[in-house]
Amino acid sequence: MNMMCRNILSSLRTINRLYKNPLITAVRYHGEYEWQDPKSEDEVVNITFINKDGKHIPIRGKIDDNLLYLGHRYGIEIEGACEASLACSTCHVYVKEEYLDKLPEPKEEEEDQLDLAAFLKDNSRLGCQIILKKDLEGAEFTLPQATRNYYVDGHKPKPH
Ligand code: FES
Repeated sequence: MNMMCRNILSSLRTINRLYKNPLITAVRYHGEYEWQDPKSEDEVVNITFINKDGKHIPIRGKIDDNLLYLGHRYGIEIEGACEASLACSTCHVYVKEEYLDKLPEPKEEEEDQLDLAAFLKDNSRLGCQIILKKDLEGAEFTLPQATRNYYVDGHKPKPH
């Protein structure tokens, strides 16, 4: 299947998904949980973001934090244009290989969006689909050089 067909197919799937779930944007949550500090050391999950300049930014997260919203809390330049509704790939991250198997398999919708991501690699995942668990202690998430939005218009993300 050529790239144009894949793009059209993915867009149709996204429209279909949103049409079948008209309340999806109304009930989506926007990261309030990630602004809460861990209540105990047992909850803490330390991770590191590596930004486009190669700078390592350690973050003290907690169990069940969504990686996208946790990044927003700490000013990481990870966009999340569709706010975790699997309709973009602007939350694209590379997962340090040794942690890939600790994540659940991506859903079909995530695979569809990753197919459209710029600079796709074997360890690519969507940050909004990564929920921190204790076995992600020490994990590193690297931001790609660009996402599709950057790639197209040079847009600089601002957390929502
Ligand atoms: S924010 Fe759009 S798919 Fe993750």
